[in-house]
Amino acid sequence: MRLLVENISTLVGTGIGGKLRLCGSEMSGLNTLDNAWLLADDGRFAAFGGMDDMPPEGLRADVVVDARGGMVLPSWCDPHTHVVYAGSREGEFVDKIRGLSYAEIARRGGGILNSADLLHTLSEDELYAQAMRRVREVMKKGTGCLEIKSGYGLNTADELKMLRVIRRISESVPARIVSTFLGAHAIGRGYGHAEYVDLVVNEMIPEVGRERLADFVDVFCDEGFFTPEDTARILDAAAPWGMRPKIHVDELASIGGLQVGVERGALSVDHLENMREDEFGVLRGSITMPTALPGTSFFLNMPYAPARKMIDSGLPVAVASDYNPGSTPSGDMKFVVSLACIKMRLLPSEAINAATINAACAMGLSADYGSIDVGKVANFFVTEPMPSVDFIPYAYTTPIVSRVFLGGEEIV
Ligand code: NIG
Ligand code: FE
Repeated sequence: MRLLVENISTLVGTGIGGKLRLCGSEMSGLNTLDNAWLLADDGRFAAFGGMDDMPPEGLRADVVVDARGGMVLPSWCDPHTHVVYAGSREGEFVDKIRGLSYAEIARRGGGILNSADLLHTLSEDELYAQAMRRVREVMKKGTGCLEIKSGYGLNTADELKMLRVIRRISESVPARIVSTFLGAHAIGRGYGHAEYVDLVVNEMIPEVGRERLADFVDVFCDEGFFTPEDTARILDAAAPWGMRPKIHVDELASIGGLQVGVERGALSVDHLENMREDEFGVLRGSITMPTALPGTSFFLNMPYAPARKMIDSGLPVAVASDYNPGSTPSGDMKFVVSLACIKMRLLPSEAINAATINAACAMGLSADYGSIDVGKVANFFVTEPMPSVDFIPYAYTTPIVSRVFLGGEEIV
């Protein structure tokens, strides 16, 4: 099927070429083409150009879409979410307003364990239905690639239930889904710390590996959760099963998780709200993508990851939503881009690159997603008419998406 989009005011995020990620000053370069058309063939981008020199094959498209002066952007890529969860936790939201911290709520047995208790009571079908509502919501908002973690099971059967739900989601939506095993998200109820880490290593990882249920492995390496030693052990156990690390570090405190991840070739280290500047050097020259979650800082009133300083020092940065019931009940990547600009002082171009090409790289997907380049999967959205690209983060609650295309087909 050949799809032509014409009358595009500005085509955004084109021509990254063979680059798999953008670092430092490269991040402020956002290639654009004004008054453009875009052609997709068989689900991939086939060509683009200016309206004044429309090629003959454009006229032979099977479907023609009039962008009516809206812009076209590559779909958002969201490399860190927990969208498979049961119910919601607005009670804790109110506790936080009354003065309890995220860590205090966790210490009292709330937080992640509350979500695990609730998830335990749901069937796989119910859990799937709840998660699908969130996935559909974010697809409509322009997300085309999504990482989803387990981690609200916290026993073998429920972790597998979550991962099977993620697999089912990936088989039923046109967005590209990748899955991450996060058995080490908290100590499951009824287990001692050492006993639980043993369970993750000796029972959960082999079962997840045998069923090929996860692309990646994650650990919540932070104060009060898992130590760098636990993390090293878990990552090393998952490696022979082909699960690459993408880990939670430096959220509550900097305890050495970042170093453990980078040493083991982590695809990303995420959160970084309490990252220390001496950790920049650890990332330098590595393949690991530092991934900031500004929605979490916003919702929990915590410090923001030092994304501006990382970019100024030449590092790449990605952003993600962290969509989850406790620390960010939102998967709105446009709002994440706004927060990256408003709170982390990224330029709009840097924030958009952080939410597209670099976010795709944080999932190992940037050869196929994250920019409008010929040969990449045709995941994009058409916007309402807008005065400029900078309007996207500036108008921080205005919906901009008018039509969404995934794999070259419109989703309705
Ligand atoms: O990424 N920090 C750890 N995990 C999640 C929150 C999980 C929850 O509170 O349910 C996060 O913020
Ligand atoms: Fe998270």
